Amino acid sequence: LVITIDGPVAAGKTSAARGLAARIDFPLLDTGAIYRCVALEAQSRDLNWHDEAEVARVASELEIEFQTEGGTRRVFLSNTDVTEEIRRPEISQGASIVSEQVGVRAALLTLQRQQAVRSDLIAEGRDTGTVVFPQAERKFFLTAAPEVRAHRRFLELRSRGIETHLRDVLAELEERDRRDSSRSIAPLVAAVDAMTIDSSAMSAAEVIEEMYRLVRRHLPVPRS
Ligand code: DC
Repeated sequence: LVITIDGPVAAGKTSAARGLAARIDFPLLDTGAIYRCVALEAQSRDLNWHDEAEVARVASELEIEFQTEGGTRRVFLSNTDVTEEIRRPEISQGASIVSEQVGVRAALLTLQRQQAVRSDLIAEGRDTGTVVFPQAERKFFLTAAPEVRAHRRFLELRSRGIETHLRDVLAELEERDRRDSSRSIAPLVAAVDAMTIDSSAMSAAEVIEEMYRLVRRHLPVPRS
Protein backbone atom coordinates (compact mmCIF):
# COMPACT_ATOMS: atom_id res chain seq x y z
CA LEU A 1 0.00 0.00 0.00
CA VAL A 2 1.49 3.33 -1.05
CA ILE A 3 0.07 6.67 0.06
CA THR A 4 1.41 9.85 -1.53
CA ILE A 5 1.28 13.41 -0.20
CA ASP A 6 2.32 16.17 -2.60
CA GLY A 7 2.01 19.91 -2.43
CA PRO A 8 3.82 23.25 -2.40
CA VAL A 9 6.34 24.60 0.11
CA ALA A 10 5.12 24.73 3.73
CA ALA A 11 1.66 23.34 3.04
CA GLY A 12 2.12 21.10 6.08
CA LYS A 13 3.12 17.96 4.19
CA THR A 14 5.85 16.92 6.60
CA SER A 15 3.69 17.25 9.73
CA ALA A 16 0.81 15.49 8.02
CA ALA A 17 3.00 12.71 6.65
CA ARG A 18 4.70 12.15 10.02
CA GLY A 19 1.42 12.19 11.91
CA LEU A 20 -0.27 9.81 9.51
CA ALA A 21 2.77 7.51 9.44
CA ALA A 22 2.73 7.31 13.25
CA ARG A 23 -1.01 6.74 13.31
CA ILE A 24 -1.02 3.83 10.87
CA ASP A 25 2.52 2.64 11.59
CA PHE A 26 3.85 3.09 8.05
CA PRO A 27 7.41 4.03 7.08
CA LEU A 28 7.82 7.48 5.62
CA LEU A 29 9.78 8.65 2.59
CA ASP A 30 10.58 12.37 2.62
CA THR A 31 11.58 12.84 -1.02
CA GLY A 32 12.40 16.55 -0.51
CA ALA A 33 15.15 15.51 1.91
CA ILE A 34 16.76 13.53 -0.92
CA TYR A 35 16.85 16.57 -3.24
CA ARG A 36 18.20 18.60 -0.34
CA CYS A 37 20.98 16.05 0.15
CA VAL A 38 21.94 16.38 -3.52
CA ALA A 39 22.18 20.16 -3.11
CA LEU A 40 24.21 19.83 0.09
CA GLU A 41 26.56 17.23 -1.33
CA ALA A 42 27.11 19.34 -4.47
CA GLN A 43 27.88 22.35 -2.31
CA SER A 44 30.34 20.42 -0.17
CA ARG A 45 32.10 19.29 -3.38
CA ASP A 46 32.28 22.96 -4.44
CA LEU A 47 30.06 22.36 -7.44
CA ASN A 48 27.76 24.90 -9.04
CA TRP A 49 24.13 23.81 -8.61
CA HIS A 50 23.55 24.63 -12.27
CA ASP A 51 26.28 22.26 -13.46
CA GLU A 52 23.88 19.54 -14.64
CA ALA A 53 26.40 16.83 -15.51
CA GLU A 54 28.27 17.06 -12.22
CA VAL A 55 25.13 17.38 -10.12
CA ALA A 56 23.59 14.35 -11.86
CA ARG A 57 26.70 12.41 -10.92
CA VAL A 58 26.29 13.48 -7.29
CA ALA A 59 22.67 12.24 -7.40
CA SER A 60 23.65 8.88 -8.80
CA GLU A 61 26.33 8.41 -6.13
CA LEU A 62 24.23 9.57 -3.22
CA GLU A 63 24.53 7.47 -0.05
CA ILE A 64 21.48 8.39 1.93
CA GLU A 65 19.82 6.70 4.85
CA PHE A 66 16.82 7.53 7.01
CA GLN A 67 16.80 6.48 10.66
CA THR A 68 14.35 7.01 13.47
CA GLU A 69 16.00 7.94 16.76
CA GLY A 70 13.93 8.59 19.86
CA GLY A 71 10.85 9.32 17.76
CA THR A 72 12.61 11.79 15.45
CA ARG A 73 13.59 11.05 11.87
CA ARG A 74 17.23 11.66 11.06
CA VAL A 75 18.77 11.90 7.61
CA PHE A 76 22.28 10.54 7.08
CA LEU A 77 24.37 11.46 4.08
CA SER A 78 27.49 9.30 3.66
CA ASN A 79 27.05 8.29 7.33
CA THR A 80 26.92 11.92 8.54
CA ASP A 81 23.78 13.23 10.23
CA VAL A 82 22.63 16.17 8.06
CA THR A 83 19.07 16.46 9.42
CA GLU A 84 19.44 20.11 10.44
CA GLU A 85 21.91 21.19 7.78
CA ILE A 86 19.65 20.29 4.86
CA ARG A 87 16.92 22.62 6.22
CA ARG A 88 19.02 25.77 5.82
CA PRO A 89 17.24 28.33 3.55
CA GLU A 90 20.22 28.30 1.18
CA ILE A 91 19.92 24.53 0.73
CA SER A 92 16.17 24.94 0.10
CA GLN A 93 17.02 27.11 -2.90
CA GLY A 94 19.72 24.67 -4.02
CA ALA A 95 17.31 21.75 -3.79
CA SER A 96 14.77 23.61 -5.90
CA ILE A 97 17.47 24.34 -8.53
CA VAL A 98 18.87 20.80 -8.76
CA SER A 99 15.37 19.31 -8.79
CA GLU A 100 14.74 20.95 -12.18
CA GLN A 101 17.42 18.80 -13.80
CA VAL A 102 16.53 15.72 -15.84
CA GLY A 103 19.62 13.74 -14.82
CA VAL A 104 19.03 14.36 -11.14
CA ARG A 105 15.37 13.33 -11.31
CA ALA A 106 16.20 10.18 -13.26
CA ALA A 107 18.86 9.14 -10.75
CA LEU A 108 16.57 9.73 -7.80
CA LEU A 109 13.56 7.98 -9.30
CA THR A 110 15.06 4.53 -8.83
CA LEU A 111 16.23 5.34 -5.33
CA GLN A 112 12.72 6.46 -4.34
CA ARG A 113 10.90 3.50 -5.91
CA GLN A 114 13.19 1.04 -4.15
CA GLN A 115 11.77 2.21 -0.84
CA ALA A 116 8.34 0.74 -1.66
CA VAL A 117 9.56 -2.64 -2.87
CA ARG A 118 9.51 -4.39 0.47
CA SER A 119 7.04 -2.44 2.55
CA ASP A 120 4.03 -0.17 2.72
CA LEU A 121 4.98 3.47 2.39
CA ILE A 122 3.88 7.06 2.79
CA ALA A 123 5.81 9.18 0.28
CA GLU A 124 5.87 12.95 0.57
CA GLY A 125 7.05 15.48 -2.01
CA ARG A 126 6.07 17.20 -5.26
CA ASP A 127 5.66 14.38 -7.78
CA THR A 128 5.21 11.27 -5.67
CA GLY A 129 1.62 10.77 -6.88
CA THR A 130 2.20 11.82 -10.49
CA VAL A 131 5.61 10.36 -11.39
CA VAL A 132 7.24 8.28 -8.65
CA PHE A 133 4.23 6.18 -7.59
CA PRO A 134 1.50 6.73 -10.19
CA GLN A 135 -0.18 3.49 -9.04
CA ALA A 136 -0.42 4.60 -5.41
CA GLU A 137 -3.67 3.51 -3.81
CA ARG A 138 -4.32 6.84 -2.10
CA LYS A 139 -3.02 10.25 -3.17
CA PHE A 140 -3.27 13.59 -1.42
CA PHE A 141 -2.48 17.08 -2.67
CA LEU A 142 -2.04 19.30 0.35
CA THR A 143 -2.06 23.04 -0.18
CA ALA A 144 -2.70 26.36 1.63
CA ALA A 145 -2.72 30.08 0.80
CA PRO A 146 0.80 31.49 0.18
CA GLU A 147 0.52 33.97 3.09
CA VAL A 148 -0.45 31.16 5.48
CA ARG A 149 2.41 28.99 4.27
CA ALA A 150 4.92 31.84 4.54
CA HIS A 151 3.80 32.58 8.07
CA ARG A 152 4.20 28.92 9.08
CA ARG A 153 7.65 28.74 7.52
CA PHE A 154 8.62 32.03 9.21
CA LEU A 155 7.63 30.65 12.65
CA GLU A 156 9.44 27.39 11.95
CA LEU A 157 12.66 29.18 10.96
CA ARG A 158 12.45 31.43 14.00
CA SER A 159 11.94 28.45 16.31
CA ARG A 160 15.20 27.08 14.91
CA GLY A 161 16.99 30.35 15.68
CA ILE A 162 17.09 31.52 12.05
CA GLU A 163 16.31 35.26 11.99
CA THR A 164 14.47 36.44 8.91
CA HIS A 165 11.62 38.69 7.76
CA LEU A 166 8.18 37.48 6.82
CA ARG A 167 8.29 39.33 3.49
CA ASP A 168 11.56 37.59 2.58
CA VAL A 169 10.10 34.21 3.48
CA LEU A 170 7.05 34.93 1.30
CA ALA A 171 9.23 36.04 -1.62
CA GLU A 172 11.43 32.94 -1.33
CA LEU A 173 8.38 30.70 -1.12
CA GLU A 174 6.79 32.27 -4.19
CA GLU A 175 10.04 31.90 -6.07
CA ARG A 176 10.22 28.19 -5.20
CA ASP A 177 6.53 27.68 -6.03
CA ARG A 178 7.10 29.26 -9.41
CA ARG A 179 10.16 27.14 -10.14
CA ASP A 180 8.60 23.89 -8.85
CA SER A 181 5.37 24.42 -10.82
CA SER A 182 6.77 25.67 -14.10
CA ARG A 183 9.61 23.22 -14.72
CA SER A 184 9.17 21.01 -17.75
CA ILE A 185 9.96 17.77 -15.96
CA ALA A 186 7.74 16.46 -13.15
CA PRO A 187 6.24 19.85 -12.28
CA LEU A 188 4.30 20.34 -9.08
CA VAL A 189 0.70 19.49 -10.01
CA ALA A 190 -2.02 17.52 -8.31
CA ALA A 191 -2.44 14.01 -9.73
CA VAL A 192 -5.84 13.70 -11.42
CA ASP A 193 -6.79 11.06 -8.87
CA ALA A 194 -5.47 12.99 -5.85
CA MET A 195 -7.70 14.25 -3.07
CA THR A 196 -6.92 17.96 -2.54
CA ILE A 197 -6.89 19.26 1.03
CA ASP A 198 -6.57 23.01 1.68
CA SER A 199 -4.96 23.32 5.11
CA SER A 200 -5.20 27.16 5.31
CA ALA A 201 -7.73 27.00 8.14
CA MET A 202 -6.87 23.56 9.51
CA SER A 203 -4.58 22.47 12.30
CA ALA A 204 -2.03 19.72 11.69
CA ALA A 205 -4.16 17.37 13.81
CA GLU A 206 -7.22 18.08 11.66
CA VAL A 207 -5.30 17.38 8.46
CA ILE A 208 -4.02 14.07 9.85
CA GLU A 209 -7.51 13.10 10.97
CA GLU A 210 -8.95 13.88 7.54
CA MET A 211 -6.24 11.82 5.81
CA TYR A 212 -6.67 8.97 8.24
CA ARG A 213 -10.42 8.90 7.54
CA LEU A 214 -9.67 8.58 3.84
CA VAL A 215 -6.97 5.91 4.04
CA ARG A 216 -8.57 3.78 6.71
CA ARG A 217 -10.50 1.52 4.39
CA HIS A 218 -7.32 0.69 2.44
CA LEU A 219 -5.58 -0.69 5.53
CA PRO A 220 -5.29 -4.48 5.68
CA VAL A 221 -6.19 -4.52 9.38
CA PRO A 222 -8.32 -1.54 10.40
CA ARG A 223 -6.59 0.51 13.09
CA SER A 224 -8.62 2.17 15.83
O1 DC B 1 9.70 19.46 0.34
P1 DC B 1 11.04 20.21 0.42
O2 DC B 1 10.91 21.67 0.69
O3 DC B 1 11.96 19.54 1.39
O4 DC B 1 11.68 20.04 -1.06
C1 DC B 1 12.87 20.68 -1.42
C2 DC B 1 12.90 20.91 -2.93
O5 DC B 1 13.02 19.66 -3.59
C3 DC B 1 11.66 21.58 -3.50
O6 DC B 1 11.86 22.95 -3.76
C4 DC B 1 11.40 20.87 -4.80
C5 DC B 1 12.20 19.62 -4.74
N1 DC B 1 11.40 18.40 -4.74
C6 DC B 1 11.01 17.90 -5.96
O7 DC B 1 11.28 18.49 -6.98
N2 DC B 1 10.33 16.72 -6.02
C7 DC B 1 10.01 16.07 -4.89
N3 DC B 1 9.33 14.91 -4.97
C8 DC B 1 10.37 16.59 -3.64
C9 DC B 1 11.06 17.78 -3.58
